[in-house]
Amino acid sequence: MSTQNGAPQRRITIHELRRMKERGEKIAVVTAYDATAARLVGEAGVDVVLVGDSLGMVVQGHDSTLPVTLDHMVYHSAMVRRGLGRAGAKAHLVGDLPFGSYQASADEAVKAAMRLVAEGGVEAVKLEGGADYADVIRRMVRAGVPVMGHIGLTPQSVHKLGGYVVQGKDAERAQALLRDARALEAAGCYAMVLECIPTELARIITGQVGIPTIGIGAGPSCDGQVLVLTDLLGMDKSFTPKFVKRYAELGDAVAGAVGRYVAEVKDRAFPAEEHVFHASAVRLVPVPDETDDREELPGVMGAPV
Ligand code: KIV
Repeated sequence: MSTQNGAPQRRITIHELRRMKERGEKIAVVTAYDATAARLVGEAGVDVVLVGDSLGMVVQGHDSTLPVTLDHMVYHSAMVRRGLGRAGAKAHLVGDLPFGSYQASADEAVKAAMRLVAEGGVEAVKLEGGADYADVIRRMVRAGVPVMGHIGLTPQSVHKLGGYVVQGKDAERAQALLRDARALEAAGCYAMVLECIPTELARIITGQVGIPTIGIGAGPSCDGQVLVLTDLLGMDKSFTPKFVKRYAELGDAVAGAVGRYVAEVKDRAFPAEEHVFHASAVRLVPVPDETDDREELPGVMGAPV
């Protein structure tokens, strides 16, 4: 049984994700930013698709996530929703609230979250920050929007953090992150991302909260893992952080394929006979062109008959 856009009625819910934590089943999360990627990752069986604001770097070519707007997130989320629908995928869909859309006031934050759900088709939103955002999270949850937290290395705070560096390495900061994790759960988050923290700290946080933790650069004890799709596919050799495992070398594959295409176009090897359309023979009369005084020649179009 499917809904209007072909999606199965039984999508993975926030409750199912919690049950996965309880039964020790790991949660596989990956980013997607367009319909084709969403269809492919949906067919591959991921549990959760994240329309991350990492699209600012991966798709838009910025060197941070800061220029991404709510309009961008709505636009990409809607594409991903359509791609998942086309694949009949069960994956739970989460969209990032971008920088500037939830920090100024709880009212603005709730409106931004609702837009991402209503127009982008996501089932939940993710925001970066700990205890400081507890009130904002409570307001969103009260408004009916499930919220995924995100602590540790929070890329939207890159300037405050002084770079993309591992967080929580000393006892004081580790303690603060543990407090943040507890605050996110108490505020009503249904899951949280732990980004670039020591594996020992991720294990403790995961053991102390009842909601699933999704790690990226946080080791194997987390309840799930998330990777940026282009990283796991090996599409950019110049970006290989320690926590990424490349499951394919698509960067090489794309460069090789496009290089062969260019060579075949130049050599006239493409298009070959099997790529060509034919018509039955028809006689064409010249089309008069008032601006051209060259002699018009009638022609014959079509395959020899
Ligand atoms: O924006 C993003 O893709 C993310 C993940 C890396 C967790 O926040």
